[in-house]
Amino acid sequence: MTEQSAPEELTYYERVGGHETFVKLVHEFYLGVAGDPPLREMYPEEDLGPAEVRLRMFLEQYWGGPKTYSETRGHPRLRMRHFPYRITPTQRDRWLHHMNAAIDTLDLAPMDEELMRGYMAHAAHFMINAEDE
Ligand code: HEM
Repeated sequence: MTEQSAPEELTYYERVGGHETFVKLVHEFYLGVAGDPPLREMYPEEDLGPAEVRLRMFLEQYWGGPKTYSETRGHPRLRMRHFPYRITPTQRDRWLHHMNAAIDTLDLAPMDEELMRGYMAHAAHFMINAEDE
C-alpha cells in the first residue's frame, strides 16, 4: 500500500499571491500617502521608494514569506522604530484609511481580506504614541 502524502499547507503569503501581491499592496498604499500632505510630511525621505521597500519586506515576512526584512533591518521592534514620529489617533486613521484603500485593490478571498484588515487595524492602533492636540 502506498502512503498518501498530505497536501502541503500554503502560507498566507503564498495563498494571496506572494511577492506580486505585496508589491501591489504597498505601492497602492504609498500612492495614498503621497497624496495626503499631513501624513506625507511625517516621512523624512524625499523619495518614498525606500520606505515602500521596508514596509513591503516587513509585511512579506510577517505573513510567512521571505525573511529579508530581518536579514537587512534586524529585529522589527516597530513601536520603537516609530518613536521619532508623532503618531496620534488622527494619523493612525489616515494611515489605516490608505491601507484599507490599498487592500480594496487586491481582490482577496473574504477570509484573507478580513485577516489582513484586522491585522492592520490592530498594528496601526498599537503604533499610537501621542495624543491629538
Ligand atoms: C499608524 C500610523 C503609522 C504611521 C504614521 C507610520 C509612519 C512611519 C514613518 C514616518 C516611517 C519612517 C519611514 C521609513 O524610514 O521607512 C515608518 C517606517 C516603518 N513603518 Fe510605519 N507608520 C505607521 C504604522 C505602521 C504599521 C501599522 C506598520 C506595520 C504593520 C508599520 C511598518 C513600518 C515599517 C516596517 C517601517 C520601516 C522600519 C525600518 O525598518 O526602519 N508602520 N512608519
